[in-house]
Amino acid sequence: MASRFPAAWLDELRQRSDIVQVISGYMQLKRNGRKYWGLCPFHGEKTASFSVDAEQQLYYCFGCKAGGSVIQFVMDIERMDFQEAVRFLADQQRMPLPQMEDDEDYQRRRTQRDRLLGANKEAARYFHQMLFTDAGKPVLSYLKRRGVTDNVIRRFGLGAAPESWDSLTKHMRELGYTDDELRLCGLTVIKEAEPATEDRPARPRRAFDMFRNRAIFPIIDQYGNVLAFGGRALGDQQPKYLNTSDTPVFNKRLGVYAANLLRKERHLERVVLVEGYMDVVSLSQFGVTGVCATLGTALTNEQARLLKKFAPKVYLAYDGDSAGQHAILRGLDILKAEGIPARVLDFPDGLDPDEFIRRDGLEGFDRLPALTPETYRMRRLKEEYDLSSQEGRTEYARACANILRDLEPVELEGHLQELMVQTGFTREVLVAQIGVRAPQTAAVPSPAQQPRPARRPDAAVSEDTRAQELLISLFATGRVPVDIASAEDFDDPLLRLLYEELSGGASPAGLAESQQDEGSRERVSRLLMAPPGEDRDQLIEMARDCLNRLRIIRCQERLNGIMRSINTLDGEEKAAAMREAQRLNTELKRLKSA
Ligand code: UTP
Ligand code: MN
Repeated sequence: MASRFPAAWLDELRQRSDIVQVISGYMQLKRNGRKYWGLCPFHGEKTASFSVDAEQQLYYCFGCKAGGSVIQFVMDIERMDFQEAVRFLADQQRMPLPQMEDDEDYQRRRTQRDRLLGANKEAARYFHQMLFTDAGKPVLSYLKRRGVTDNVIRRFGLGAAPESWDSLTKHMRELGYTDDELRLCGLTVIKEAEPATEDRPARPRRAFDMFRNRAIFPIIDQYGNVLAFGGRALGDQQPKYLNTSDTPVFNKRLGVYAANLLRKERHLERVVLVEGYMDVVSLSQFGVTGVCATLGTALTNEQARLLKKFAPKVYLAYDGDSAGQHAILRGLDILKAEGIPARVLDFPDGLDPDEFIRRDGLEGFDRLPALTPETYRMRRLKEEYDLSSQEGRTEYARACANILRDLEPVELEGHLQELMVQTGFTREVLVAQIGVRAPQTAAVPSPAQQPRPARRPDAAVSEDTRAQELLISLFATGRVPVDIASAEDFDDPLLRLLYEELSGGASPAGLAESQQDEGSRERVSRLLMAPPGEDRDQLIEMARDCLNRLRIIRCQERLNGIMRSINTLDGEEKAAAMREAQRLNTELKRLKSA
């Protein structure tokens, strides 16, 4: 990820882009002791749990656990990827990007990408302008007939591909784009010259427009790049929607339609994911915020992760027909796998969101219950089984039990009631079938879910791990000599890795950045924040104390292990175990008195 830029150059960039200064550009920070505090920009809150550590150049929110380096902050707040955030900061600092000019391949691809994106932008402009000319009239009246307002036409940059073989291609050539570039963008179709055959004369090479006589929906990413187009036929012509196939700048599995608008909507509570272009346009016109669509494919993991950047929850609002309902089940699986909380909007009468909101308005839309995945799945199951027979009810109960197994007891309650009524089984029978977990295990935090209460991030962490974590944050200050510990003192793999990296001279901000997954990035940011206390001797003292505690725990564990197994041994083995136990006991005494 970070490897495109030399590490030393990134270090310099981080040093120059002072984190307190950069973050202050977005929000108010108040100094309190050695840290700065403010209201977290990534989740709604009334008391400040967002902290910035100027010394370590890291931020961390104790509420929602967002955290990382200055680059991470820019990525999150500006919704940029790593490369873009780095460019953004380098630009602010007037720092020239490291020389990548020597890399010919990189240059070539970059230039091509810029050219193709440029061509797409020009084409979008052309289509949009055509909408208000004679050639675009049929498309404009089509959109008007469907109730699309001028305002929304502008918001989505909708356009018209006129009924002509090559008007766009000609226009683009005039702007200096080659046929080859237009072909790569998917704007122009090239038919190579064909020699004469017995049946027909030779044909010259021909170039014609991909989109003809269609309403155009430009697909724009969150940074404003026009990546591709969808073209709606004005009547029953097939295909109904013609889409740009994958190109060097477009992969339909990675993006969503209307990402450009999503990015501008701050503090969204949920993203509404629909199936079609028109659904997005309509819902948006009626005042629904945070709407986007997949691009004619089922939801992919990549798209799910993209959505997570825009809001903490995803509402699936697919068509009310059977294809849509099927797609919802698959979508729920993907969202679950990505740890994203989901809800389902189930549209009545087989309607799609566009048809529904035109019939029932925004009030109707807002009244639709947001179903939990379990409720939705149970609804679907109910249609599959014959609940009038004992056998059907048994099968149904069994299938529902599988769905409900992952729920926590408090979430389970409502479903149990319903299931009792539907199946006639008693609560005890259903609970046994579900195999409810004991409350203690149910309390284990589920991955990357809702923020837990602020300031108690360590509740579930053992004393052992806590000591290792504190130790790491002490070493991260750079004031405690790393060699008082060794890699063996860390049994948590991430912490051991951090220790090794810190011993090798890595910077805390760089370490946070290099974490690939969000969970460890957040954890690392929290850990590498400077611990309280300034005095070097005091920090070393704390580190020694941690180490001591760790070694006591390890020693005690080994001793316990031996004592548990000692009765199963005999002869020389038993004698050896006794000797080892003695040794550990002495060691334990020594450590405790140290
Ligand atoms: P739908 O057939 O549900 O169309 O396809 P729609 O969104 O309701 O469109 P209108 O209201 O008839 O104009 C849903 C999505 O599937 C993709 C498109 O992305 C479309 O928005 N699709 C559909 C295609 O790519 N090609 C097609 O021929 C049909
Ligand atoms: Mn529709």
